[in-house]
Amino acid sequence: MIIKPVIKGQVAKTCHPIGCKKAVEEQIDYVRQADPIKNGPKKVLVLGASSGFGLASRISLAFGGAKADTIGVAFERGPSEASVGSAGWYNALYFREAAEQEGLIAKNFIGDAFSAEMRQQIIDYIKTEFGGTVDLVVYSLATGVRPDPETGQKIRSSLKTVGEPLTGYTVNLEKDCFDEGVLEAADPQEIEDTVRVMGGEDWAEWIKVLSDAGVLAEGCQTVAYSYIGSQITRRIYHEGTLGHAKEHLHKTADVLDEQLRKIGGQAHVAVCKALVTKASVFIPAFSPYILALFKVMKELGLHEGCIEQMQRLFAQRLYTETGEVPVDDQRLVRVDDWELRPDVQEKVQVILNEMGPDNFPELGDYEGYKNDFLKLNGFGFTDVNYDEEVSIENFASRQP
Ligand code: NAI
Ligand code: NA
Repeated sequence: MIIKPVIKGQVAKTCHPIGCKKAVEEQIDYVRQADPIKNGPKKVLVLGASSGFGLASRISLAFGGAKADTIGVAFERGPSEASVGSAGWYNALYFREAAEQEGLIAKNFIGDAFSAEMRQQIIDYIKTEFGGTVDLVVYSLATGVRPDPETGQKIRSSLKTVGEPLTGYTVNLEKDCFDEGVLEAADPQEIEDTVRVMGGEDWAEWIKVLSDAGVLAEGCQTVAYSYIGSQITRRIYHEGTLGHAKEHLHKTADVLDEQLRKIGGQAHVAVCKALVTKASVFIPAFSPYILALFKVMKELGLHEGCIEQMQRLFAQRLYTETGEVPVDDQRLVRVDDWELRPDVQEKVQVILNEMGPDNFPELGDYEGYKNDFLKLNGFGFTDVNYDEEVSIENFASRQP
C-alpha cells in the first residue's frame, strides 16, 4: 500500500514504517557524534520507550556513549488488516534491530505499564535474562488515563487551568490554522485526578515493586521528566492541572531519592524544554508559545529536539565525570535552561504580542512545528519516497 499522512484533530491516523526507521536512524546518528555519556548506566529500564523523550533517552543511552542494554516498555499497536499500526511500534522494532546490530540487548514489552502482569513479566525478564538488576529506571510515560491500583477504575486527567478560565489559540494540525478556544478551569476533583494520572504515584509504585523484587542494582538511579515553563505559559501549564501533577512528581523524586540513597542510588526529575510530541500537541492554548519559541531558539542557534535534550541530560547532568548531579534549589535537574534564558523569553513575548490566526506561519515556526509532528509519524523526510508501495504484510509476522 501507499501510505499518506492522515491527520484528524491532533492525532495522526497513519504512520510510515520507512520514515519511522529514518527517524530512529537520525537520532542514532546524532548521538554517535555528540558529546558522549561517560560513566553511564549499563542496564536500563525505560518506561514509555517508544516515542518522545523516552525513545530519545533509550537511543542516547544505547548509542550516545554508555552502550547500555535496555528494556523498553510502551503501549503501541502493531500492523493489522485494519491499520498500519502506530509509529511507536515501528520505533521499538527499529531501535531493537539497530541496538542488536551493535551487540546490545534491546528487549521490548508492548502493553500496559500499569498492569501487575506486565510488571511481573519485566521483573522475571530482568532476573532470568537481563543479568538480575537494572542501574537506571527512566520514567517517561505520558497518558490521559490510569487505572486506580486499588479499584481498577479508570482515572482520567484533564488539561485545564486552575482559577479563572482563559482564552487562547491552539494550532489545528489537521487544517493548518489557529483555533480560538477557552481553557476551562478545573474543579478540585479534576485537579486531583490529573495528579493521580500524571503525578508521581505510579513512578513510586514502579520503584517499589522493582525494589521489593530485588532488581535495583547498588547505586541505581531513576529519572522522570517534567515541564515548568515561564511567566508566559504559567497560567496554561504550571498553575494548571498538569503543573499540579508535576509538583507532585517533584515531591515524589525527593521521597524516592531518600529510598534509593540506602542503596547508594539517587532519584531526580529533569525539567525539559517544550517540544512537539504525541502528547504535547494536545495541550490547549500552548502551541503559539512553541511556535514563537522554536523561531527564537533556532535564530539564536539554541534549538534542541528530544534527542539533543536527552543526550545533554545524560552526558552533562546525570552522569558527569565527577558523579555530581547539578541541581537547582528545588533539587531539579534543569535542561530547560536555554528555553528560559531571559533574552529568549523576551523575544518570544515580542512575537506572541503580534501573533494571531493570520500571521502565525510567518511570525512563528509553524513549518518546524508541523514538520516535527509529521516526523513523529514517519512523514516529512526528504529522502523517503512516499509514492512507493510499503508492504505491511512483511511486518505482520515480526515483533518489536
Ligand atoms: P510521548 O507521548 O511521546 O511518549 C509517551 C510514552 O508513554 C510512549 O512510549 C507510550 O507508548 C507510553 N505509554 C503511554 N501509556 C502507556 C501505558 N499505559 N503503558 C505503557 N506505555 C505507555 O510523550 P512525551 O512528550 O515524551 O512525554 C514523556 C514525559 O515527558 C511526560 O512526563 C511529559 O510530561 C514530559 N515532558 C514533555 C515535554 C514536551 O514538551 N513534550 C516537556 C517536558 C516534559
Ligand atoms: Na516518552
